[in-house]
Amino acid sequence: MTHAAVGLIDVLIRRGAFADYDLPMQPPYTPGIETAGTIRAVGEGVTSLKVGDRVSTLSIATGGGYAEVMVAPAEVTFPLPDGVDPAQAVAALPNATTAQLALTRAVTVPPAAKVLVLGATGALASVFPPIARRLGAREVVGTVRSADRVAEAEGLGFDRVVLSGQLLEALEGEEFDIVVDPVGGELRGTALRLLAAMGRLVAVGSADSSGHSVDTNELWFTNRGIVGFAVGQFLVQTPAAAAPAAAEALAAIAEGSIKLGVETYPLENAADAHARMDAGGVSGRLVLTH
Ligand SMILES: NC(=O)c1ccc[n+]([C@@H]2O[C@H](COP(=O)([O-])OP(=O)(O)OC[C@H]3O[C@@H](n4cnc5c(N)ncnc54)[C@H](OP(=O)(O)O)[C@@H]3O)[C@@H](O)[C@H]2O)c1
Repeated sequence: MTHAAVGLIDVLIRRGAFADYDLPMQPPYTPGIETAGTIRAVGEGVTSLKVGDRVSTLSIATGGGYAEVMVAPAEVTFPLPDGVDPAQAVAALPNATTAQLALTRAVTVPPAAKVLVLGATGALASVFPPIARRLGAREVVGTVRSADRVAEAEGLGFDRVVLSGQLLEALEGEEFDIVVDPVGGELRGTALRLLAAMGRLVAVGSADSSGHSVDTNELWFTNRGIVGFAVGQFLVQTPAAAAPAAAEALAAIAEGSIKLGVETYPLENAADAHARMDAGGVSGRLVLTH
């Protein structure tokens, strides 16, 4: 192994947030779910990878990225195109693949679509502008909580950035074909009001865990829709969808349209990277290097 990202999910796993669920994140557990390394051996029947390939993986719930050697399923492990920095790949590939799948399998991006992404600087949200644009979106608007993150969001390729606390005022009179929502809570209900007729809100997370309920009569009265998308469950059920979506994500990384801020830590300082995540307000991604 050469790289592993440290994100919100890694912190939740470390804190034991999944302890009461029938999920693989139970002790004894080696962390590291978004990973990169060099192939040491391939399993029987694997033809997509060969020994010596530099590779990066989608999120692997069983972890292992902090170890020297891990076993990764071939269907979520992809060779890195020449010139792609593995730190950039672990930072962006899993979320960019999720974005590609969410915008093609959960919703469809209509031609020249207007897209609104909530929590624009979050790890998942941050890769949506180039992916949405590659799928034909005309404009991608992002929301942030505080004015001091506007410039960071603009640097990620959002055409415009507005404050989530003033969402309706800032976007008065505008309608969006797609709302991408990894935040949830009260903001989800507010953003729903900005959907165009036949627009779709795709719920992809709940960074704000306070919850939110929807009057479904409002949805059919207004021809609006909400759809959920969780990449882990989707790829368990539809593994063949991983490779084409990851290919699009890697193409966006290779051409430089996805370029995230990455702060690297040596593996022995993993605790510092986790403490940095715990402190909140991280810009870009944190990546451990072996
Ligand atoms: N659907 C899937 O397949 C999938 C894949 C990956 C992640 N997720 C989920 O997506 C969510 C985000 O994950 P992530 O890794 O992107 O986390 P992250 O990097 O911590 O980003 C969270 C974002 O949400 C914002 N936020 C948090 N609370 C908020 C609030 N009350 N109001 C407005 N904005 C708020 C944060 O803003 P600040 O920067 O201002 O704090 C930040 O921009 C999580 O629920 C995660 O489980 C889902």
